[in-house]
Amino acid sequence: MRFDGVRKEYAGSVAVDDLSLAVREHELLVLVGPSGCGKSTTLRMANRLVEPTAGRIVLGDEDVTDVDPVALRRRIGYVIQNVGLFPHRTVAQNVATVPGLLGWDRRRTRERVTELLALVGLDPDRYARRWPHELSGGERQRVGVARALATDPPVLLMDEPFGAVDPVGRARLQQEFARLQRELGTTVMMVTHDIDEAVRMADRVAVLSRGAHLEQLAPPLEVVARPASAAVADLVGRGRTARLLALGRLEPSDLDDAGAATRPGGTRDAPATAGAGTGRTLRLGAELGDVVTALTDAAGASGGGAVPVLDASGHVVGAASAQTVVRALHRLTSGGPAAG
Ligand SMILES: Nc1ncnc2c1ncn2[C@@H]1O[C@H](COP(=O)(O)OP(=O)(O)OP(=O)(O)O)[C@@H](O)[C@H]1O
Ligand SMILES: [Mg+2]
Repeated sequence: MRFDGVRKEYAGSVAVDDLSLAVREHELLVLVGPSGCGKSTTLRMANRLVEPTAGRIVLGDEDVTDVDPVALRRRIGYVIQNVGLFPHRTVAQNVATVPGLLGWDRRRTRERVTELLALVGLDPDRYARRWPHELSGGERQRVGVARALATDPPVLLMDEPFGAVDPVGRARLQQEFARLQRELGTTVMMVTHDIDEAVRMADRVAVLSRGAHLEQLAPPLEVVARPASAAVADLVGRGRTARLLALGRLEPSDLDDAGAATRPGGTRDAPATAGAGTGRTLRLGAELGDVVTALTDAAGASGGGAVPVLDASGHVVGAASAQTVVRALHRLTSGGPAAG
């Protein structure tokens, strides 16, 4: 799905100024930015709930303005901000909305509804006949996601789909959804104003500012490690180091004896002091957060400062210390394209 010079004006105000952006097939692209910056408007133009003032939106090789809006919405799943379940329809009837429009028979519809409720973690026997007001916010959002996935649409638009869920339930839903999306290969454009949700779920993050101005479009690690503008730096600034520790990975050049990793036949015994007596080791490619944990544990156990690091075949290639973490953070935040 591609946006080419898309603009949306409302009387007297510009919601989307001049947006050009391509969502790749099978990708989970997250739009993130402050309230009122034009995220929902951008999504709504993609399925023609809102018509652009100028520019083109292309789906596959078709201009969406040439496609009948109703036909378009059957091809593009949509999870509405604040869920928007139909209050006078049961959970099952809500999920069956698009199959109903497409004239599926009862049996096929019932099977699909059962399958989808199970998929989003709602027991069909307990939930299918309930009404939306009998659900918690998180359960409602799950139903919203199931409804959008009912006909397995190739493209899915999601507007703050987990906004109403508590932090713990939210993290679980994010993970479950990201797994589901990879399994189904759905192309997803999702909106959030939560930068942590964006970096946790996205293949690529699009950071927007007022007027849907594209500040940066890059993989999560790159957005966090090397913000392209002051607006992005502002967004990722608080808690940035914690995010880098979660996203960054241990590389040979971070190690205390980096030479050992690249030297021909470069295996050797662990340095005598490394993680002495703790039996603790790390692998290249470990999450930096896990490196910090291992160092903390090693320090507690022995008062020593380093943990041996193994390559994929189990050979020691160096040691990790606090300096290793500092080197990794420097590597991530300076120069060249970010790894991962
Ligand atoms: N129907 C409308 N008529 C007039 N102005 C509108 C309309 N819909 C949206 N706007 C304005 O366009 C701008 C972008 O709105 P939009 O809903 O896209 O923001 P958003 O990024 O989704 O914000 P939020 O994070 O709060 O949901 C806002 O200034 C909003 O007031
Ligand atoms: Mg919105």
